[in-house]
Amino acid sequence: MESTLKEMRVGASVLDMDPKSTVGGGVEDVYGEDRATEDLLVTPWTISVASGYTLLRDPQHNKGLAFTEKERDAHYLRGLLPPATVSQQLQEKKLMNTIRQYQLPLQKYTAMMELEERNERLFYKLLIDNVEELLPVVYTPTVGEACQKGKVLDVLKNWPRKSVQVIVVTDGERILGLGDLGCQGMGIPVGKLALYTALGGIRPSACLPVTIDVGTNNEQLLNDEFYIGLKQLRATGQEYYELLHEFMTAVKQNYGEKVLIQFEDFANHNAFELLAKYGTTHLVFNDDIQARGSLIGTASVVLAGLLSALKLLGGNIADHTFLFLGAGEAGTGIAELIALEMSRQSKVPLEETRKMIWLMDSKGLIVSSRKDSLQHFKKPWAHEHEPVKGLLDAVQAVKPTVLIGTSGVGGTFSKEVIEAMVFYNEKPIILALSNPASHSECTAEEAYSWTKGKAIFASGSPFAPVEYEGQVFYPGQSNNTYIFPGLGLGLVMSGAIRVHDDMLLAAAEALSGQVTEEHFSKGLIYPPLSNIRKISAHIAANVATKAYELGLATRLPRPENLVKLAESCMYSPNYRNYR
Ligand code: NAI
Repeated sequence: MESTLKEMRVGASVLDMDPKSTVGGGVEDVYGEDRATEDLLVTPWTISVASGYTLLRDPQHNKGLAFTEKERDAHYLRGLLPPATVSQQLQEKKLMNTIRQYQLPLQKYTAMMELEERNERLFYKLLIDNVEELLPVVYTPTVGEACQKGKVLDVLKNWPRKSVQVIVVTDGERILGLGDLGCQGMGIPVGKLALYTALGGIRPSACLPVTIDVGTNNEQLLNDEFYIGLKQLRATGQEYYELLHEFMTAVKQNYGEKVLIQFEDFANHNAFELLAKYGTTHLVFNDDIQARGSLIGTASVVLAGLLSALKLLGGNIADHTFLFLGAGEAGTGIAELIALEMSRQSKVPLEETRKMIWLMDSKGLIVSSRKDSLQHFKKPWAHEHEPVKGLLDAVQAVKPTVLIGTSGVGGTFSKEVIEAMVFYNEKPIILALSNPASHSECTAEEAYSWTKGKAIFASGSPFAPVEYEGQVFYPGQSNNTYIFPGLGLGLVMSGAIRVHDDMLLAAAEALSGQVTEEHFSKGLIYPPLSNIRKISAHIAANVATKAYELGLATRLPRPENLVKLAESCMYSPNYRNYR
């Protein structure tokens, strides 16, 4: 034993330690930490049952001042806390008070992240109870981690939790609207997983955020002395795909077939490729893009809004004509899910239902004469029509009943365009989905006032209610956070091994089913986000039902009441009592 260690220490023995290379240890220096401040290695000892100081430093068990008198005695906490004991509710109230006083979103974000590291349950309690307010806060990018080829499985094994159920992975190339953040894209998986927990009830310990650092092409980061990621240009091509393949293989090897992997904020080309490649071998999902056989979560949120709007209007989805401004990942993904739902409802082949949906990109209406020069994902939408350049001309040519903005360009739904929509339709459906609000194709106020209150309107970013001629209109928010947490829960609780398009349709239908008469009466086509845990449970149950129907569920036998199961599976942030 000593001889092997000696070898590792390049010939040195524990016995012939050089006193000059260390600083002297104190009498209580049991493990030699004091002496080890220079070049002697020590083992980081810990104890397995947390109590006293360790308990306060353990975010999963710490309750701060909410430890009861009995718990303080039993767990050696006396003297480590001020005497007051407070309830979780009071802690929440106090923290929310502090957070609300911060002006900058970054200050709020930092306060929340510090809380997560200090007291996990309190963090989730705040997030769940104040979901609308805190959702945008925890969703701001900041930190990172690096991976090495050939070591991915070892890296995964370093993570202390073995029963991981949901992984959100990014390579940081296309973070929100911010572009290539390299390793600093880590805030995205962390934030997304916090939502899986807060909104979908996935246990925090079952969540694993991953950033695969393959370098960055962001000059500013490469030249920043404080940048924490790999300072190299992005690995591409075979090198990139080999690393990703190693990751995908290692994940399955370490966590099994049922772990959900959500790809997040990869650049378009990689996102398509990864989803297409692993859709048939892994339980993978992407919220923002679609590839062969794998549709986007975002699309099912939009579809849910449309299904609700149709309940308001009456009629069938197949009776409608759609025009999209913007034929990128979001536009084509949403279009495809609508076409699928039309096909399913009307029993007409998909190729036919697609013809009811028109898309425009920056070069104009997508028509058959442009087919040769179109990117592959736009080709299915190239219908027979003469070329049309501008949006107003397209509205006049196609006469859509539903106008959807996925262009990322603000103000593109002009007054003339909106007026044309209301000219052709008694109640036009107008969805301005681009984020943030400044990129919204039109504002809620514009949609209601230009249509004299006739529009059924929803947007990607939130807009305040609008008063028009004495009536208050409540714009819906087509927010992708409606679907993915419930979808994730449904997949996890049924032990699903693949994501199928029909599950996204099932999720959309469940979401639309949560819109009540009361919501409709306010013009809302989405239920309030404050009910999200209940909504997620219903989505999860519908998704799980579909997983069982498709033979993709492995939790057998099928539980009787899936809504009850979903509710009972959901993580609760309430403090537990300690023995
Ligand atoms: P993308 O870059 O893949 O696609 C943008 C498309 O818009 C392209 O086809 C481009 O040619 C077209 N375009 C740009 N300017 C145009 C103009 N002036 N006229 C006509 N077409 C124009 O982007 P992606 O990922 O599809 O996202 C688009 C927008 O949708 C973003 O603002 C994003 O925030 C929003 N989005 C909203 C979601 C929601 O849940 N509300 C979900 C996903 C995306």
